[in-house]
Amino acid sequence: MLGACIMERPLIAVLNGPNLNMLGLRQPEVYGHATLDDVEQVCVQAAERLDVAIDFRQTNGEGELVSWIQECRGRARGIIINPAAYSHTSVALLDALLAVDLPVIEVHISNIHRREAFRHHSYVSRAAIGVICGLGVRGYALALQAMTDMILDEDDQ
Ligand code: DQA
Repeated sequence: MLGACIMERPLIAVLNGPNLNMLGLRQPEVYGHATLDDVEQVCVQAAERLDVAIDFRQTNGEGELVSWIQECRGRARGIIINPAAYSHTSVALLDALLAVDLPVIEVHISNIHRREAFRHHSYVSRAAIGVICGLGVRGYALALQAMTDMILDEDDQ
């Protein structure tokens, strides 16, 4: 319609790494009882409230995560990623996130700094504007709030 201004909602990718499909069953004393479907619902509800679109995905494959990150270039406005165990091992994920040139927020359900020493270092954090860990699945909603604020700030400039 002439004169109408249809604003597309900004797209935020929410990417999840290995074993997060096992949430709910996996070490509930560490990760709680929420399933990955529950995490997606948390994100969908936050996205509706914030008026953004999300692309929520999980894979067990490192290469697939790298490809999904690459696909975000020119398509998404930001990436929220729980790289799970690949946080602690993957230079390939770090390189992909640096190459894509988008704001990144890293999320962990558990507080990785209260856990085994090998979880204290994350390669991905070098590419992240911020890291949220230890706040359970609500960390995803907080990350979506922060990412939306940053996108709005950028659009205001
Ligand atoms: C995790 C923490 C990682 O150390 C672990 O390998 C995971 C999940 C978290 O969300 O707390 O798989 O990323």
